[in-house]
Amino acid sequence: MTYVTKIYMPNREKFKTYIDSIYESGWLTNNGPLVQKLEKKLETYLGVKNLLCLSNGTDALQFAYRLLEEEGKEVITTPFSFVSTTSAIVAERLKSIFADIDKESYNIDPTNIEGLITKNTCAIAPCHVFGNACEIEEIDKIAKKHNLKVIYDASHAFDVKYKGKHILNYGDISIISFHATKIFHTIEGAAIVIKDDALYEKAKIVRNYGIDAPDSVAMLGINAKMNEIQAAMGLCMLDEVDKISKERKESHQFYTKSLNRYVQLQKKNPNSTQSYSYFPVAFKSEDEMKKVKESLRKENIVARQYFKPSLDTLPYIESKEIMHNSRDLSNRILVIPMHSNIEFKVSEIIIKTLEKGV
Ligand SMILES: Cc1ncc(COP(=O)(O)O)c(C=O)c1O
Repeated sequence: MTYVTKIYMPNREKFKTYIDSIYESGWLTNNGPLVQKLEKKLETYLGVKNLLCLSNGTDALQFAYRLLEEEGKEVITTPFSFVSTTSAIVAERLKSIFADIDKESYNIDPTNIEGLITKNTCAIAPCHVFGNACEIEEIDKIAKKHNLKVIYDASHAFDVKYKGKHILNYGDISIISFHATKIFHTIEGAAIVIKDDALYEKAKIVRNYGIDAPDSVAMLGINAKMNEIQAAMGLCMLDEVDKISKERKESHQFYTKSLNRYVQLQKKNPNSTQSYSYFPVAFKSEDEMKKVKESLRKENIVARQYFKPSLDTLPYIESKEIMHNSRDLSNRILVIPMHSNIEFKVSEIIIKTLEKGV
């Protein structure tokens, strides 16, 4: 079977050495030496400051909203993303307000944002879907004009630079998932990058249950700590991530060259580097998509409808506004398998099946 993603296992001997060091230190969690080392190494590798490692991407999003302390307020967000982008807003007792996406970039369309702003809006929460950078300047301009925070979900964008700087540098807060299926992973895990120094200091307390000193709880906290085994995996992965990206790039370029005549490919932001995280293809209709999905299945290849459901259809969403572009795209999109060591012959079967099916 070939699945959309394949988990990358880094050098086993190196991982064992880290595990031995954990046994020697007896330090498994609570901001241990490996977590601290990974945070420093990631800040250097990515060119960011104020980075904290956290337990997973969903927690990282919730953590971001917990930091803002805006309970009851509205957050304008995208309906086309993984469910956590919305569930985190709802879980932190904020209200999700959707702005529909652009049909070609698949990202939140900034022209749909301003009309949704009310006196209750506290933030804009876009996602760089499939690692494609959002319209960062336009979003920033709207946020500044209305005094709103911008929280980016950059979970797909480990390998992306925008205007020469890593994409995590943008927004007041940016989070990234390090789930096992991502280009860079820590088994489960995530990072949050916080622009404001004072908010970063507050985040260190919130991450530690709100405890600011022995026997003192200063604020409502959360347990979203990364543990030492996760950090060990991250340290091993960081040594190999450039090689992984290079291999994915080859696979991505092969698909792009072979498929752009047959299916709609995501329109990339020209101000950013290309991400090699995913390979989404959009078909003309849901029927065409289903036909191809089924044909691939017969070849033991599993393509997935990322992202379905469109998040405006979630059962816990109050707003009844229909997000037409997002719903339409989620009905006719497939993400096809692409990873660092996908066999050439499997890629060829995928390409031939798509050509035949459209
Ligand atoms: C865009 C996006 N946001 C958030 C998440 C949640 O991350 P995690 O699985 O680490 O909780 C994911 C999932 O991988 C995702 O794709």
